[in-house]
Amino acid sequence: MKILLLCLALVLACDAQLPLPNVLTQVSGPWKTWYISSSNPDKIAENGTFRIYMRGINVDIPRLKIYFNFYAKVDGECVENTVGASIGRDNLINADYNGSNYFRIIDMTPNALIGYDVNVDSKGKITKLASLMGRGAHVNEEDIAKFKKLSSEKDIPEENIIYVGDTDNCPNHE
Ligand SMILES: *[C@@H]1O[C@H](CO)[C@@H](O)[C@H](O)[C@H]1NC(C)=O
Ligand SMILES: *[C@@H]1O[C@H](CO)[C@@H](O)[C@H](O)[C@H]1NC(C)=O
Repeated sequence: MKILLLCLALVLACDAQLPLPNVLTQVSGPWKTWYISSSNPDKIAENGTFRIYMRGINVDIPRLKIYFNFYAKVDGECVENTVGASIGRDNLINADYNGSNYFRIIDMTPNALIGYDVNVDSKGKITKLASLMGRGAHVNEEDIAKFKKLSSEKDIPEENIIYVGDTDNCPNHE
């Protein structure tokens, strides 16, 4: 039993030393939000804390930090936020924003980033959120399909998927 535990401890220790998969090294740069979905529609409604208009993401690999720069509306006003998060085991990203968040990059291509977030607010309420972010002026159908599939796998109702590409009127919108 002791030997087994020792092996387990070694495996975990070694695992933590693994180099980051390539994906995080490709994330830094400008991004904009195309679609979001949520198990709780209030969070992504107009003035909702997760109706996020992304502007850019910056990854600091040596420090295992990631910074999200975005706007969200508070009472109809665009408010800029930069949220710093830590990158943990298996690239689970842990951020404090409207409670605690456990965020993962599910899929990434040169033009699209599909993310999944679990938010736990101060009352312990759990909200599942998915997003499709892009670079460039267009979003492709294949990425939309992947995002919709993810939302459905997470039991987010189809009516809670919203296109925000045309509602972004916050500053620095391309
Ligand atoms: C968002 O806030 C603005 C300003 O308070 C308000 O006019 C608008 O109705 C709000 N939207 C929703 C859906 O509550
Ligand atoms: C999250 O944001 C909502 C407003 O959208 C607010 O009512 C709530 O208190 C916030 N919760 C936390 C934990 O910040």
